[in-house]
Amino acid sequence: MLTLGVNIDHTATIRQARRTVEPDPVAAAVLAELGGADGITVHLREDRRHIQDRDVRLLRETVRSHLNLEMAPTEEMVSIALDVKPDYVTLVPERREEVTTEGGLNILSDLPRYTDIVDRLQSAGIPVSWFIDADAEQIQAAAQTQAKFIELHTGRYAEATTEKERQKELDILKQGAAKALSLSLRVNAGHGLTYLNVYPVACIEGMEELNIGHTIISRAVLVGIERAVREMKLAMRGLL
Ligand code: PXP
Repeated sequence: MLTLGVNIDHTATIRQARRTVEPDPVAAAVLAELGGADGITVHLREDRRHIQDRDVRLLRETVRSHLNLEMAPTEEMVSIALDVKPDYVTLVPERREEVTTEGGLNILSDLPRYTDIVDRLQSAGIPVSWFIDADAEQIQAAAQTQAKFIELHTGRYAEATTEKERQKELDILKQGAAKALSLSLRVNAGHGLTYLNVYPVACIEGMEELNIGHTIISRAVLVGIERAVREMKLAMRGLL
């Protein structure tokens, strides 16, 4: 069954705006789970602009669903992941100046090093997911690293401005998912998904988990996290 990983980074963004202690992402995770989140996702960025090391450690103790740690494939992050042991890790590209993750990671740019990182994490019992574009070469490379999952980047689909373009991007995602499944990769997706555009992605054959942040936290500011998560679960089933 398709699951929802709720990305709670933005609760930490609000806290860091004042360098204070509220809102606490740990509380946000509890409420997201009460609303039906199947997983909690956080991105520990190199510049620590939102989620802090303390959050990841506490979430490891408190999350009752599963914890997905998004991180750049760097030595610092690998060492933190090996220590904290999230339920799975999603490896993402990261540039300091970006507002959010801008594109899928290019696994081919450093295949030997990336393969080694997957090996170290998975040998420690932490399944790895690659956040990549739905590109045949990248999917093949993800399989070569022996990673268990890919997360298809849905940004281009989300940003499509015409129905024709959106359908084209959706077809690319469908083909990417099919290719990944044929290589025994498990398939997640995320980035830019909203209450309005999530359903067609949720219907993609073989899709396991959608990681969604901005739209849920935006709605949560107005209606509360529990309700915002509950409504996203409905939207994923085409019921909203
Ligand atoms: N998946 C990945 C790999 C991401 O980097 C992000 C953004 O942090 C998301 C999913 C969630 O994207 P959004 O906040 O647009 O829902």
